[in-house]
Order: sequence, then C-alpha cells, then structure tokens
Amino acid sequence: MDLESHRFISYFEPEQATQLCQLAVIEHFPQGAIVFEENQVPDSLYLVLSGKVEFSKQTTPQHYQPIAWAKPNDFFGEFGVLDGKPRSARAVACESSCLAKIPRDRLMEILERTPGRVVLKIFDRIIHYLRSTTDLYINQVIHKQKMALVGEMVNTIVHDFKSPFTGIHLASSMLKELHPDDDTQEWCDLIQAQVTRMMAMAEEVLEFTRGSATLHKKKIDISAILKRFEKLNRIYFKEAKVNFEVVAEENIWIEADESKLMRVLQNLTGNAVDAMEDRGGYIKIMTRADKNWLYLTIADNGPGIPELIRERLFEPFVTYGKRSGTGLGTAIAKSIIDAHGGEISFISELEKGTTFSIRFPLHSELDSEINRELETPLNSASEY
Ligand SMILES: Nc1ncnc2c1ncn2[C@@H]1O[C@H](COP(=O)(O)OP(=O)(O)OP(=O)(O)O)[C@@H](O)[C@H]1O
Ligand SMILES: [Mg+2]
Repeated sequence: MDLESHRFISYFEPEQATQLCQLAVIEHFPQGAIVFEENQVPDSLYLVLSGKVEFSKQTTPQHYQPIAWAKPNDFFGEFGVLDGKPRSARAVACESSCLAKIPRDRLMEILERTPGRVVLKIFDRIIHYLRSTTDLYINQVIHKQKMALVGEMVNTIVHDFKSPFTGIHLASSMLKELHPDDDTQEWCDLIQAQVTRMMAMAEEVLEFTRGSATLHKKKIDISAILKRFEKLNRIYFKEAKVNFEVVAEENIWIEADESKLMRVLQNLTGNAVDAMEDRGGYIKIMTRADKNWLYLTIADNGPGIPELIRERLFEPFVTYGKRSGTGLGTAIAKSIIDAHGGEISFISELEKGTTFSIRFPLHSELDSEINRELETPLNSASEY
C-alpha cells in the first residue's frame, strides 16, 4: 500500500498528513531483519506498508516468545514514542517488509498541535490493540495451564508404560534367539518396531505438552524429504487404497528439523487416510517456491473436515468421528510449522476433499543463526 492511504496518516487533517508523509523515511527490511531490539531507546513510529512484523519478548537467552504481529495498515512503536521509555519487545520482519519510519521528536511536535479528535482516533486504535493483545495473553496463560495439567498426566502414563514396553521388547528379542525361523523373526521384528513406535509417540505427546522441544535444523532440499516420506509410507498408502502422488520441484532448500517435518506430513496424510476409511482415494503433495517461501499443499479427495470442528481444528484435543483420535495431530503439525516461522491453513469442502497449505521460510544465511524453540500452539480463533 502507499503511505498516503495508510490508516495512521488518514487520522490527520490534510496539512498535517502531508507533513507526516514528507517526514517519513521508507525502509525495506528483508525477512529476519531486526527492526528494533527489546530495551532499545525509541526514536520512531513505524507504519507497515507491506510484509509482516513479529513482536517477541525474550524469555530465556535463546528463546523469544512471539506476542503480536503487525500487518499492512497497522502501526507500531507508539508507546515508546508517547512515553519515551525503552522498547518492551523486539520487532523482527517475519516477511520481507516495507516500513515508513516517522521520527519521534517531529511526530511529537505535530501531535502537540493536533486537534483532540485526531488524538482520540489514535487512542481508539491503541486501546483496540491493547485489548486484543490482552486477550491473546490470557488465552496463552489458560492454554499453558491446560497443557501443564495434560503434561503431568502424560508423564505419569509414559512412566508407567516404560517398564511393560521394555518387557515386551526383551521378550520378543528372546523369542527371536530361541526360534531362528523366518516367520518368528519377521513377527518379532514387527512387535519391536511397533513398541518403539508407541514409545516415540508417547514421548512426542510429552514433548508437545511441555512446549519446549528444541529444533535440530539443517539445510535440506524439500524434495529429498518428500522422497523419503513416500518410500517409508508406500505400503501404508497401498493397503489403504490411496493413490499417493508427489509433484515436487528439486532444489528448494529449507532450514528444517527433518524428523519434525516428517511428523507433520505423517499427521496430515494420516488424517486423510483415516477420513477415507476403506473407500480409498487420492492424496497429492505439491511444492513450489518464490523468493522467500516454500509453498507446500497436501490435497485429498476425502469427505472433508466436519464443519463443527473447522474453526478449532488446530487446537489440542479437537477430534471428530474417530474411535481412537486424541485430537493432537493437527495441533502438533501447527506447532512444528509455527516453530519454523511458517504458517499452515486449510480449505475443506464436504464430500469433495481437503487441502492443507503450508508456507515455510526458505533457507537463508541470516535465519540459520536463530535456533527457535517449539511452542505449543495458541488458540487459532479466526483463521483456519
Ligand atoms: N484430511 C481430512 N479429512 C477429513 N477430516 C479430517 C482431515 N484432517 C483432519 N480431519 C478431522 O479433524 C479431526 C482432528 O484431527 P487431528 O489430527 O487434530 O486429531 P485426530 O486425528 O482426531 O487425533 P490424533 O491425530 O491425535 O490421533 C479428525 O478427528 C478428523 O475428524
Ligand atoms: Mg490425526
């Protein structure tokens, strides 16, 4: 958008609006660039013309907790401008962004000569913003409390499961030694593989409820991950009568935790297979990229996501129509994508199918310095 039509400028009388536009300095911030640091002395107000800026507070030396985002037509940094106190959060361009910077001292001069109704409009906007951040914060606190409770329960269960699992594992190893015939070897291998899988699943839920699994990122071509995923699941899809297809360009490099990304693919395709029951169908994964992002879609022609749960799909424990669903699959997928700085959304139509769309940052030298931690998801209220 252009500066003249920005919401902040439109609050002012024409003469002051022109003055503000002349004062503003337009700056481009590449994806990952820091606009200002927490505790920095404020010198400007920022108007977002394009892109997206994320605000986060440092909670541990390596971890920043995102608290809010600004999109085109939003403005930020006004608290520091008004009271002159150090910045309360860090601002980072999470997409390549274009911002207009208005110097604090000149803005204060203009505000001092501004009629009360203009100031009221600005206050109205600030109050609206404060209310939505407070709601977000309260939801976060409630969510964390719920997860802590679930974490405690899962911890006890996992702990109690460990010794019988180890027992099953050992017993099948003994059987393998006692009966070296092929059939016994095969069945025992299967038992062991499934026990290991159950343990990994329990650990994963535990990790998710703790909300703090560190990502082990490395630079990787997405087509390589998809090839491996297809190989590992070929038999699974065949048995479910699902025609699984991958259309992936090569040389799209991302910086990702491969096993976590595999988990995302597993959870989303697993849901599609479950939803098709025994009728079969198709699942198609496609990738493309632009300058900054990988776009990955997972489309199926299953029965569609029940309307009743669409708005809350990414919340933990939202499940529908499954005997053994815990409702964590999509919540875990979202938390993994969020932790990588990406976004996930879906469209779904009853009896036609569902498409999940993932936008994932491409590998950039700048990003590889930041090792973000995995966060449990917030309530995704309006967007899905
Ligand atoms: N591709 C899809 N097609 C139809 N319904 C879907 C699809 N993906 C998800 N759903 C619906 O969304 C619900 C929530 O999915 P989610 O993966 O979060 O939990 P779950 O599959 O029920 O349990 P879990 O993944 O923890 O075993 C599912 O129960 C299902 O009803
Ligand atoms: Mg699932």
